[in-house]
Amino acid sequence: MKLLSVCDVNNYFLHRIIKTANIFRLRHKVGMIENDKIEDDRLPLRGKVIGTLFFEPSTRTRWSFESAVYKLGGSVVSSGLSSNSSQAKGESFEDTIITCSQYCDGLIIRTSNTLSEMQNFYSPNKVYVNAGDGSNEHPTQAILDVFTIWQRFNRLDDLKIGIVGDLPHSRTIHSLMRLLGRNQSNSFTLFNPIGKELPREFASRSPIHHCETENEFKNQVRNLDIVYLNRMQKERWDEETKSNYSDVRFVFDKDYMSCLNEKAIVMNPGPRLDEMPILNDDRILYYKQAFNGLFVRMSILCHLFKKCKDDPK
Ligand code: NCD
Repeated sequence: MKLLSVCDVNNYFLHRIIKTANIFRLRHKVGMIENDKIEDDRLPLRGKVIGTLFFEPSTRTRWSFESAVYKLGGSVVSSGLSSNSSQAKGESFEDTIITCSQYCDGLIIRTSNTLSEMQNFYSPNKVYVNAGDGSNEHPTQAILDVFTIWQRFNRLDDLKIGIVGDLPHSRTIHSLMRLLGRNQSNSFTLFNPIGKELPREFASRSPIHHCETENEFKNQVRNLDIVYLNRMQKERWDEETKSNYSDVRFVFDKDYMSCLNEKAIVMNPGPRLDEMPILNDDRILYYKQAFNGLFVRMSILCHLFKKCKDDPK
């Protein structure tokens, strides 16, 4: 089983993941997470070894995945940045993946390589999860973002979503737009402070409006249900972009918050930088997203290993 892109998750599968994640969340609330009823076996990943290969920096994704594996009864073997693996000796990425997969039942991978373009090295009886591949996608982040949206609105359609960020490079924005963009009743209002546009392959069926200026975006804020912010991905910029735009700033400040509807929410996959200075407002779900990451990733692992009772075999 592979989860390399949100395209690997159809709506049926998405709803199963959400449902299971919600059960984990409720059980956690009453202190019963280890006593999960989804699987007869109380620890659905017992005996499974999961490898985590994070060749780019990570806090939330790695910790929530590793914690999810342990809470489900599995074990983690881990390799940090590529400087700690044989890639530092010149081994190819493919060879590292094939080698590591010999020692475990599943691999969770963060890399700058586009994982869905590499179809040859996946073994059919192992689980592979994309934990962020360069500027391409971050499917499990999008699923947890969608879970957080569902929790607040009890629906995934008819939503007006504003997005501010580095549209060519932000993989969380790409995956979220692919996932929520399947529904034509959702609409997107996009603003990139440095003016560069969203690559076409991430635009799906929902209407999209690109704002040319910050004022134009500001005028739209009162109509939005969701404002999704993500930092500028400066580590992915070319030299020309760096020299032209390094000082460009966007800050979703008090002024913005005062324009925002009472029922609207503000999200950010983290890490937040200066784009999001305020957190003491119930509409800001920054830490809630990180918290939900645990339950959503537990659910994803259960479903990928087909350890959920309600999952088709
Ligand atoms: C994101 C990522 O790595 O793409 N972080 C995360 O996984 N929560 C967002 C980012 O780094 O801006």
